[in-house]
Amino acid sequence: MLNKLIITMLPLIPKTIIKMVAMKYIAGNSIDDAKRVTDEFARLGGMTTIDVLGEFVTTKEEAQTEKEESKRVLHAIKENNMPTYLSVKPTSQGLEIDEEFAYRNIKEIITLADEYGIFVRLDMENSPYTDGILNLYRRFRADGFDNVGIVLQAYMRRSEDDIKSLISLKPNIRLCKGIYKEAPSIAFQSKEEVRNNYKKLLRMIFDNDMYVGVATHDDVLINDAIAEIAKRKLTKAHYEFQMLLGVREKRRNEILNMGHPMRIYVPYGSDWYGYATRRLKENPDMASHIFKAMFTGK
Ligand code: FDA
Repeated sequence: MLNKLIITMLPLIPKTIIKMVAMKYIAGNSIDDAKRVTDEFARLGGMTTIDVLGEFVTTKEEAQTEKEESKRVLHAIKENNMPTYLSVKPTSQGLEIDEEFAYRNIKEIITLADEYGIFVRLDMENSPYTDGILNLYRRFRADGFDNVGIVLQAYMRRSEDDIKSLISLKPNIRLCKGIYKEAPSIAFQSKEEVRNNYKKLLRMIFDNDMYVGVATHDDVLINDAIAEIAKRKLTKAHYEFQMLLGVREKRRNEILNMGHPMRIYVPYGSDWYGYATRRLKENPDMASHIFKAMFTGK
């Protein structure tokens, strides 16, 4: 109840308060912060993926800036030999402006990444962009790039058909529940329906010998994936677990200590607001954190 109230009030809460609470989900303002987090997690045996914060870019100039920052990340990964790769939000590269423009920008990123031997994942955004992002993915594969992966969202009713249509490409898939608000006509709404679809899609991915990033903090789905991996005797060549920076760290380290590969999603940058508010909306303890920040300033 209190959480629901806070969610509706989020736009009214001062950004400084939101920032205080949200910074646990973000490495910091610069690539050096993302490098520090990657190094720390590498010491525990884990890997990361780095995301330059920024999305729903509306001018070509902003998209160019985002592209240059993504290329800086690639240079840093290469120079420092970091156990990481790049995640890219296609709207940050101009997908909302023009698909062809975004294609050229992302192709430049993927070409440089390919030269450096680095993988690039296209994050999945809200439903107006699903077709566009899948089209981009297919075009890059048709161009001969194998260093690119996709994300599928279990709440989307279409994801089953999307997997079927992608089987011949054997894509590297990150499977997540999906974070945006979508209409019941196109997306499952209840927790159980989303979980059931997640389990079904995971089995389809394994049945068709595709690599999967099991991206969830939900114990029901984590335990299901662990059981399925054991039953099928799958190796690290087939899967990894993925979590977000700052979320369920104890559980994350348990999974890692069981010997499963684990990657965390490490966003950085000054454009943190959209990402941070989405994370806060998912956090069951959000109300108490925000109140604590409001009253104590930490
Ligand atoms: P759920 O939301 O049910 O969370 C399970 C439990 O985890 C909760 O009960 C709570 O205990 C804990 N938890 C979850 N979020 C928390 C938080 N913010 N703070 C504290 N505790 C929290 N989505 C998308 O649409 N496109 C994408 O490209 C991606 N990419 C992506 C990458 C990675 C690595 C991950 C882990 C997730 C994504 N997502 C995403 C987000 C995803 O779709 C989903 O919204 C979140 O992971 C939350 O769903 P869970 O499966 O974790 O379940």
